[in-house]
Amino acid sequence: MKIAMWVNGVHRDLEVPPLKRLLDVLREDLGLIGAKEGCGEGECGACAVILDGRLVNSCLLPAYRAHGRVVRTIEGLGTPEHPDPVQSAFVAEGAVQCGYCIPGLVMASRALLDEEAAPSRPRIREALAGNLCRCTGYERVVRAVERAALSPARACGAEPSPNPAADLEASPGDEVVVHVPGSLRAACEALARGGVTVVGGATDLGVLMHEEIVAPRVVLDLSRVAELHGVRREGGALVIGAATPYADLLRDADVARDLPCLHAAVRSVGAPAIQSLGTLGGNLANGSPGADAVPPLLALGARLRLVSVAGEREVAADAFFTGYRATVRRDDELVAAIVVPLPAAGTRQSFRKAGTRRAQAIAKVNLAACARIEGGVLRGVRLAAGSVGPTVILLRRTMALLEGEPAADLDRLAEAAAAAASAEVAPIDDVRSTATYRRDVTGNLVKRFVASLCEMHTR
Ligand SMILES: Cc1cc2nc3c(=O)[nH]c(=O)nc-3n(C[C@H](O)[C@H](O)[C@H](O)COP(=O)(O)OP(=O)(O)OC[C@H]3O[C@@H](n4cnc5c(N)ncnc54)[C@H](O)[C@@H]3O)c2cc1C
Ligand code: FES
Ligand code: FES
Repeated sequence: MKIAMWVNGVHRDLEVPPLKRLLDVLREDLGLIGAKEGCGEGECGACAVILDGRLVNSCLLPAYRAHGRVVRTIEGLGTPEHPDPVQSAFVAEGAVQCGYCIPGLVMASRALLDEEAAPSRPRIREALAGNLCRCTGYERVVRAVERAALSPARACGAEPSPNPAADLEASPGDEVVVHVPGSLRAACEALARGGVTVVGGATDLGVLMHEEIVAPRVVLDLSRVAELHGVRREGGALVIGAATPYADLLRDADVARDLPCLHAAVRSVGAPAIQSLGTLGGNLANGSPGADAVPPLLALGARLRLVSVAGEREVAADAFFTGYRATVRRDDELVAAIVVPLPAAGTRQSFRKAGTRRAQAIAKVNLAACARIEGGVLRGVRLAAGSVGPTVILLRRTMALLEGEPAADLDRLAEAAAAAASAEVAPIDDVRSTATYRRDVTGNLVKRFVASLCEMHTR
């Protein structure tokens, strides 16, 4: 396939297999070996580059996705004679040891400072959470970012503009056909022809392709379907395009204000480089019981809009999953949008995730919760938990136990709800946790939500 991209300010025309990883294109075709392969699965950040201003893991990104885009690698940041302030600060703070992970850490720091001139320490740690290092003290890295924030960014000249509308051109030898439609109709028509692998952000598929579990022959990429992007108000609901990257959802003022439990869940997905690409459509269609963005959708009573050439239908988020990684979505249907009713005034929302670490951890248990106190009693109680059964579930018995109960003695109610929630879930032992731990944590998370209802943030 012929692709054209701007790399470090230079226009590059290349002929590459469409699913070749951007990491390999940079290293093998362009000789840019600063981006390293650590894990090859999006977890270590050693391969991080900046794509159209956003940090991405180049090991997860198929080459065709870089077509018409602007890529910055560590080689484009600075030279030994004229380093970027981030590079100088890493040296000055002694934040470099073996150096293997450093290009990724520098790129993540640069991406953060390009977006936020003076980030706080917690923000710096959050921005670097997807970059693992075996030998450098993270404290020095954090200090280096703080130091770099004090220096004006080095002007890197006029950055070219991406050209997302540029058409892709197949090459005769291509073994994979790639469709990158610009409209929902064209996307549905491509899907109707069958045998198609839908690609949202490729953060799940990139791993599966790397492990050769999935080998697409025909790809339908949703990144340029305008109707599937963005957040808009429709009557009393927010309608979220299913292919909107998480990073855009995190910047959306309506999502932050009206759907704080979804905002918190999205913020907990992977780390910034995963959030640059990953989508709600992928999280839903993937059908994982540990998907973090799904419990808030159940708790908020969202409906999913499924679209095909045959038409459109809406399914309640809690009726979407039929079993482990199984959903009601037909092969010819796209998850097009998520329709989230605006919560009633006074609704308190919470999302909690128990994992092995804060970033890049699949949930051992997660819980999204909504409720309000109205006329002294609990109303609109919705509790959704993940990683406690084959699908994300609503804790219906616990919800019924709490609904309409007086809010006078929340501590007693919280104890009863915790016991009910622990009894209601059916978790298993697996590599990440045990059934007992998951039952206990589900109960504790419910207890904490109910007990803290009075103090929690009210919308
Ligand atoms: C390092 C790392 C960390 C991660 N951490 C987390 C985490 O903390 N929490 C979490 O929940 N997930 C996590 N994930 C998983 C992944 O990032 C999310 O599930 C993400 O939401 C997937 O979205 P995507 O657009 O990238 O999906 P893709 O990889 O593009 O697709 C996933 C599946 O959904 C299908 N699909 C995609 N979009 C649509 C659509 N609109 N309609 C129909 N089918 C569609 C695809 O065909 C595929 O089967 C992590 C992944 C990695 C690599
Ligand atoms: S090589 Fe580890 S995230 Fe890409
Ligand atoms: S500096 Fe050695 S792995 Fe990070």
